[in-house]
Amino acid sequence: MKRIILAITGASGAAYGVRAAQILKASPDVETHLVVSPAARRTIAQECDIGVKEVESLADVVHHHADIGASISSGSFRVHGMVVAPCSVKTMSNIATGNSGDLISRAADVMLKERRPLVLAVRETPLHAGHLESMLKLVRLGAVIFPPVPAFYHRPGAISDIVDQSVMRMLDQIGVETDAAARWGE
Ligand SMILES: Cc1cc2nc3c(=O)[nH]c(=O)nc-3n(C[C@H](O)[C@H](O)[C@H](O)COP(=O)(O)O)c2cc1C
Repeated sequence: MKRIILAITGASGAAYGVRAAQILKASPDVETHLVVSPAARRTIAQECDIGVKEVESLADVVHHHADIGASISSGSFRVHGMVVAPCSVKTMSNIATGNSGDLISRAADVMLKERRPLVLAVRETPLHAGHLESMLKLVRLGAVIFPPVPAFYHRPGAISDIVDQSVMRMLDQIGVETDAAARWGE
């Protein structure tokens, strides 16, 4: 059984988090722990046809964003990997500085200190030097910075094709295999 944390924050691209929740739900032997930030509630409403409650119903366990005593806030709770998709600059910066006052940044900090896989789908553009410095710091701490940049070699015909391909590659990073999109050479 793989225990995975999925956090959805308030950067544009809520669809990446929603799709990740759907794929994790369909993955055998995966237990998904979901945290949705308050800003993500707003972007989900703005950008998606699915409601937050329905997204939460896809997870095995839902944690309140402010519950800093949740299971996933402790390194003694065994977790296979964590994905923050999409990841706002605010949350990325909190993680980069160890500012772990909410559950998402605390759980991410735990992943780093325990040397476990952490994938941050940071979405902002353009990027200033402070953003880039935070990203470099995070990579040095062991995180994977995964901006959801579309690929075109698989000839996406719909937005969902672009989202699926990026989410598949994010989940590859934490060892959850899915065939949500075509793979080059396969
Ligand atoms: C519609 C909408 C789109 C946003 N897009 C982005 C974005 O792409 N990247 C980003 O870093 N912040 C974006 N924000 C701002 C974040 O939501 C804001 O910084 C928030 O405090 C992030 O909090 P969180 O990390 O706890 O979710 C957006 C906000 C809204 C309302």
